[in-house]
Amino acid sequence: MNQTEILTKIIRGRRSMFPPMYSDAKIAEEDIELILENANWAPNHKLTEPWRFHVMTGDKLQQMSVWAGEWYKKNVTGDKYSPVKHKKIMSNPLKSSHVIAICMRPAPDSGLPEWEEVAALSMAVQNMWLTAASLGIGSYWSSPGYIRDAGELLDLSEGERCLGWFYMGMPQPGASPQSKRTPIGEKVTWYK
Ligand SMILES: Cc1cc2nc3c(=O)[nH]c(=O)nc-3n(C[C@H](O)[C@H](O)[C@H](O)COP(=O)(O)O)c2cc1C
Repeated sequence: MNQTEILTKIIRGRRSMFPPMYSDAKIAEEDIELILENANWAPNHKLTEPWRFHVMTGDKLQQMSVWAGEWYKKNVTGDKYSPVKHKKIMSNPLKSSHVIAICMRPAPDSGLPEWEEVAALSMAVQNMWLTAASLGIGSYWSSPGYIRDAGELLDLSEGERCLGWFYMGMPQPGASPQSKRTPIGEKVTWYK
């Protein structure tokens, strides 16, 4: 396969893989390091490198589970409360090998609109996701409401904000999530 064929295969083969699909196996730390290093090579306007990552594994995932469960119990009440959702929020970290908090710290005084920093962070996450896929690691970007209070769990720096969790684990044998897209032709206008 040439480079384009390899890249296309990874892009098309990347899927969202959820914690119930993960096995108990732990991801090698060198793979996590590679994923983070590749994230760091994302394009970003004015080289602000706004992405910040907090890598959680081991005991910290236990802590995340308890914290998320408490948050849900306290903030989601009445008709909105779902025991199934409550259980899922608590079990997802425990089923994961690692969870990386996807955060950003917009550069002060850069003059950039915030959307450009969010876009740069998102490009970094795509690098992570594709690298994970190429390594056979299951992962997905989760953006729950309680992420806004991630500072209760993590040491965030001044001005830093989290936009999601990147759940990661080694897929169970046979896990093969499907996805679909409508044709690209419906979203493109050509001018010749
Ligand atoms: C910014 C962002 C936030 C997402 N948040 C969630 C989420 O909270 N819950 C979820 O199930 N999937 C979430 N996803 C994953 C999408 O559901 C998933 O990418 C989509 O279903 C397409 O599937 P695929 O990634 O396998 O192609 C998110 C994806 C992105 C890019």
